[in-house]
Amino acid sequence: MSEPHSSARQGLPRRNAALGPWALVTGASDGIGAATARALAEAGFDLVVVARRNDRLTALAEEIAAVHRVRAVPIAADLGRRAGAGVFFRALDEEGIAQADIGVAVLAAGFGSTGALADADIGTERDMLDVNCGAVLEMSHALARSMRARGAGQLVLFGSVVGFQGNAFTANYSATKAYVQSLAEGLAAEMRPDGVHVLCVAPGPVASGFAARAGMTMGQAGTPEEVARAITAALGRSGTIRPGFLSKLLGYNLALTPRPLRVRIMSRIMRGMAAPPDRKRQEA
Ligand SMILES: NC(=O)c1ccc[n+]([C@@H]2O[C@H](COP(=O)([O-])OP(=O)(O)OC[C@H]3O[C@@H](n4cnc5c(N)ncnc54)[C@H](OP(=O)(O)O)[C@@H]3O)[C@@H](O)[C@H]2O)c1
Repeated sequence: MSEPHSSARQGLPRRNAALGPWALVTGASDGIGAATARALAEAGFDLVVVARRNDRLTALAEEIAAVHRVRAVPIAADLGRRAGAGVFFRALDEEGIAQADIGVAVLAAGFGSTGALADADIGTERDMLDVNCGAVLEMSHALARSMRARGAGQLVLFGSVVGFQGNAFTANYSATKAYVQSLAEGLAAEMRPDGVHVLCVAPGPVASGFAARAGMTMGQAGTPEEVARAITAALGRSGTIRPGFLSKLLGYNLALTPRPLRVRIMSRIMRGMAAPPDRKRQEA
């Protein structure tokens, strides 16, 4: 861990001061979460980074502390377990970090799958509900309480371009993202009077560890850094952001399209992105 070099002492930029000193990022061992943790450290926040792969988290925390001179603490937790969020909050306490000092929480941990639901492994699909929805609910609930008590805070949840309608060949993943989109919108309206902002990030395809785990092929994809920049630029705001060209193109074009047609268009796109079953079998 780094020598404590509090960003509160250093002084966060005025815009972020009410949100500091600590930012929490789940799903920080890869992709968007890792890029967002780096961007928040650059913005002066101390960082708690969470995922299952402790070696990657530890390397990231050491890098962040050395490059940005902030405190960085890795916490390994499996958020797919029922008790995952509780394990995380206990570990936070053991690290001596008060939950009340977390002003920004980026809940990026998540994964997807492709292919017909009837062919999928039900255990994996159930795990997806637990990670993408259950853990997000439990962590949002706990953090909403502490942020409301301090009268300031920023929750950042992850929807997706697939979360605005049903999509064949990624039906369950899309449904988890529709849940998060709706949760974020409702929570944002609920918490506005408390000084707590809730942002939903709805990216299109992003080149990260996501595609390999989901068995997906992405032709055009944005970068995790692009998403991270959009998040740090939106701190202190509620609403939905659509980082990247494709999410804007799809999102704004489809917004006025009748929902059944949207389902057909997006399902065709998803069929193209689902790796063919025999290739999936070879890769397994
Ligand atoms: N990439 C895209 O195209 C895209 C598009 C739209 C939305 N999103 C959303 O963006 C978010 C970030 O995705 P990404 O692209 O950065 O994917 P990624 O590179 O695969 O990263 C996913 C992160 O989630 C963590 N994670 C997965 N299962 C976990 C568990 N059971 N417990 C704790 N952590 C877990 C992983 O860490 P460990 O494996 O070490 O646990 C990893 O750090 C996700 O919510 C995803 O649904 C992604």
